[in-house]
Amino acid sequence: MIRPILALMALALVAAAPRSDAADVPFPHAPLPYPADALEPVIDAKTMEIHHGRHHKAYVDNLNAQAAQITELAGLSLLDLQRQMSRFPTAVRNNGGGHWNHDFFWSLMTRPGTGGEPSAALAAAIERDFGDLDAMKQAFQQAGLTRFGSGWAWLIVRADGRLAITSTPNQDNPLMDLVPESERGTPILGNDVWEHAYYLAYQNRRGDYLSAWWQLVDWGRVSTHYDRAIADLGPTATDAAAK
Ligand SMILES: [Fe+2]
Repeated sequence: MIRPILALMALALVAAAPRSDAADVPFPHAPLPYPADALEPVIDAKTMEIHHGRHHKAYVDNLNAQAAQITELAGLSLLDLQRQMSRFPTAVRNNGGGHWNHDFFWSLMTRPGTGGEPSAALAAAIERDFGDLDAMKQAFQQAGLTRFGSGWAWLIVRADGRLAITSTPNQDNPLMDLVPESERGTPILGNDVWEHAYYLAYQNRRGDYLSAWWQLVDWGRVSTHYDRAIADLGPTATDAAAK
């Protein structure tokens, strides 16, 4: 008799657990915007399946579990959560950051060699703030290469409208109100330098992954993020950056 009761209890627990692929959770886990093999040979299908289907999903599941406990968390958009992260426990920081970072990351990539070029406005800003596109790429790769342990490299628009390269540890990002002021801004490009992002194909060669990754960047998408970030700052910041 005890065994059937235990089985029913186990079923009830499974039914009560938040499902990140369900439509009614506060923070859904969207499918990849392309097939898992779309980024080959730069990122292999197996890495994408594990990265999206296990690592990213775990962040989303954990965040939904925390939202079931913290009422005010469930009422926030994922973006607003990043900007108010200091109000919440470390577990929300790790899982909420992990969810936003990965959603952003998937959206920035496309089939190798099809990502076009930066818009005229973004190209001009890169030239103004780095000298040229290659110099920006080198600085970005260096940020990713020198991030000790796990984290992210970012290209951000700062509050003054200028572009900058930053790096954050773990699943932090430059939107969070708890990262140092010097690393804060609106991300327009980001690369995941956790080993789970590249280890199957590149092993310890993070530098090779970082340099190959440029083949995947969807510059149309990055340019749109740039335009939005500048528009959100308003004309004052744009004028200041132009000086
Ligand atoms: Fe990741």
